[in-house]
Amino acid sequence: MNDLLLKTLKGEVTSRPPVWMMRQAGRYLPEYMVLRAKYGFFERCQTPELACQITLQPVDIIGVDAAILFSDILVVPQAMGLEVQLIESQGPILPNPIKSIADMSRVRVPDVHETLQYVFDAIKMIKKELNGRVPLIGFAGAPWTLLCYMVQGKGSKTFDEAKSFCYTQPEVAHHLLQMITDTTISYLKGQIEAGADVVQIFDSWGGLWSPVDFEEFSLQYIRQIVHAVKDLAPTIIFAKGAWASIGAMAETGAAGLGIDWCIPPKTAREFAGDNITLQGNFDPAKLYAPVDVIKREVKKMITDFGPGRYIANLGHGILPTVPVDSARAFVDTVKEFDYSTL
Ligand code: CP3
Repeated sequence: MNDLLLKTLKGEVTSRPPVWMMRQAGRYLPEYMVLRAKYGFFERCQTPELACQITLQPVDIIGVDAAILFSDILVVPQAMGLEVQLIESQGPILPNPIKSIADMSRVRVPDVHETLQYVFDAIKMIKKELNGRVPLIGFAGAPWTLLCYMVQGKGSKTFDEAKSFCYTQPEVAHHLLQMITDTTISYLKGQIEAGADVVQIFDSWGGLWSPVDFEEFSLQYIRQIVHAVKDLAPTIIFAKGAWASIGAMAETGAAGLGIDWCIPPKTAREFAGDNITLQGNFDPAKLYAPVDVIKREVKKMITDFGPGRYIANLGHGILPTVPVDSARAFVDTVKEFDYSTL
């Protein structure tokens, strides 16, 4: 078994960093596009055979050191009672978002084995198909990032309505955040029971807050989740843009922190301290550079993070129009790296 990822999360010495890419199962792969043309998005998520097939694609085609479950963070709001549609070229739409306390009667903390069993079934199938080749990463959205979609009802650059909801109706916001947290804890426990080796919490919109508000509306809930699952599986927190809170996130007990490209590796390490694994932080758009530039920049990134406690990854999800050969060049360069040359 390729256990580079698990060893690195435990802080064990390896000869090179493990590598995977956020959103590695997706539209840049022609094999994904074939299934995308045939089945709807949530049909792909809800059918274990399809989720399994898509999860394995980047393992087989690109040779990454970890698989990440094919699903979406928005299956949790769905399970909590909200309708979620994924509209091509528009992104997610929630036609009946939460705007006030009256809307709270439409959300519940569900039994995850009733509402999300299809995810656990997919994980069991993936683990069987992987047969130990690489570890499987499960995931969930952070409560704040899920609240963004549940309140705003669609994607946004600022999530102004979601932030306004938190500032004008803080009690309702905290009630909703706690309900999402409780659901997420049982959901991630279910994923780990089904076989997920690692879990990652995606706080894509954590960077919209000041550090103090990030603690109030996001980190205190992420901390509850980490505390509930950290003894069951290593946990990685990825809070995009929340670099000023790297120190606080490192103290949660998480095994790893995802880092975006807006902070230099050495600064991230200073903020995080030495007892946590860092993951990142290649600018996903840099995969549009010529392959020789990608190779040079990947080596520089690994060198800057230094030997050990480091997982090579992008600083956010891979973009849909990146050439497959460029994604492969990224992964191959990491796999060819040898820490003994540092
Ligand atoms: O990383 C992986 O390969 C695993 C699968 C995965 C998906 N979404 C599949 C997906 C993961 C981990 C996610 C997480 C996710 N989903 C996040 C957090 C990470 C991030 O990128 O910030 C967020 C905010 C979402 C919500 C979401 N889902 C949006 C905003 C969109 C539309 C934008 C887009 O990228 O298309 C989705 C759709 C989505 N989720 C797709 C995939 C492969 C594209 C669907 C398609 O058109 O085929």
